[in-house]
Amino acid sequence: MGRKQGVKIGAASDVFDDFMMPSRYKAMYGGRGSGKSHFFAEALVANAATNQGFRAVCIREVQKTLKESAKRLIEDKIIKMGFSHLFEVLNDQIKTPGGGTIIFVGMQDHTAASITSLEGFNVVWCEEAQTLSARSLELLRPTIRAPGSELWFGWNPRNARDPVDLFFRGMNPPENAIIRRINYDENKLFPDELEEERIHDKTSNPDRYDHIWNGGYEPQAINAIFTRQMIHDARRDVAPDLDRILVGVDPAVTNTSNSDYHGVAVCAVGDDQRGYLLEDASLHGSPHEWATRAVAMYDKWEADGIVVEINQGGDMVKHTIESVRKGIRIIEVRATRGKHVRAEPTSALYSLGRISHVGTFPELEDQLCKFTSSGYDGSDSPDRAEAAIWCFAELFPKMTTAKSEQKEFYGHATAGGWMG
Ligand SMILES: Nc1ncnc2c1ncn2[C@@H]1O[C@H](COP(=O)(O)OP(=O)(O)OP(=O)(O)O)[C@@H](O)[C@H]1O
Ligand SMILES: [Mg+2]
Repeated sequence: MGRKQGVKIGAASDVFDDFMMPSRYKAMYGGRGSGKSHFFAEALVANAATNQGFRAVCIREVQKTLKESAKRLIEDKIIKMGFSHLFEVLNDQIKTPGGGTIIFVGMQDHTAASITSLEGFNVVWCEEAQTLSARSLELLRPTIRAPGSELWFGWNPRNARDPVDLFFRGMNPPENAIIRRINYDENKLFPDELEEERIHDKTSNPDRYDHIWNGGYEPQAINAIFTRQMIHDARRDVAPDLDRILVGVDPAVTNTSNSDYHGVAVCAVGDDQRGYLLEDASLHGSPHEWATRAVAMYDKWEADGIVVEINQGGDMVKHTIESVRKGIRIIEVRATRGKHVRAEPTSALYSLGRISHVGTFPELEDQLCKFTSSGYDGSDSPDRAEAAIWCFAELFPKMTTAKSEQKEFYGHATAGGWMG
């Protein structure tokens, strides 16, 4: 990093001066590297250091481990701001002066009842607020009710219909709110490493540049066959009783590229005959690692089988799973046509409102929304989405083989499979 860093709060930009004022809502959105996370982390530490018994909760829609939380950033700020003697960093919380605390939670782990435990908190800081569900926002707002309490939101906008965008940037934004866009060009501490990334994106990823760096909404693929609206409208918090559960795997061809994941998704048919996406467990790693993950998902969800794409060689794929566990029902599928063609029957189920995501799966959903009627409109490989698509195709065989001409869109890897 070429530039000197100070410990003054909000040193990265004058914009942050506005956010020092008390306000019920503080909403900061923009592209990557604008200093949103650093500012809020510093502001949280400064508040805790100067207000006895200060209580804050850092939330995300989904937080599977503390590594995904802002805990580490806050710990670094405590040290850098010279307050180590005031705070006590524990495994899952940071104790603040005067008996307060900073905790880290995922909204998905909370119910309307359990969320009331946050009532006495002074600040809620929501990172990656673009993934916040309408339900989470609805639960949070009345819960945070201590005198002078504040709700802070930082996000990189995706879609005008995302609940946080509707709330702050829609027709009727809340009063007593500071709402501001900030981008990298206002960050005086913008690091050289990110500048290189930015320059790279400008030439190699021009379609998405405005979204990534200027805080613009995601480009909506023309003729997209899945839309965010469809996915949001059907979203559920819990699944009903499930009749049939499958783990889908779309193995990456290599495990060297940073962008290639092994898609691993868990999907089911409920006793209401609707489809449910239950988990996205995609990962980087070796073939043994994806097989281990797939078997772990099979156990966790008590699944009926593993659907796996075998373009890289059926025997090899089967052997990889069997090296982890023998005796699991493996349903092999072979991709013979374009990705979007394989996705179409599943997109029809979505547009009929017959598939619900149980929770939020931002990366997988991003991939789904890049499928168009003429191809996949992303520079990445849609491994996560395809893992789910393989599952739904198997779970709803009528849908995917109803028209005879659709048969040719799929290979015939197993007799009795959904292609047969
Ligand atoms: N107060 C600060 N002190 C030190 N460095 C800072 C500060 N603010 C910003 N930076 C530098 O700018 C970079 C980007 O800041 P930050 O991670 O807060 O941005 P962001 O808007 O949260 O971006 P993203 O969307 O990528 O999460 C940091 O990695 C850091 O190098
Ligand atoms: Mg950030």
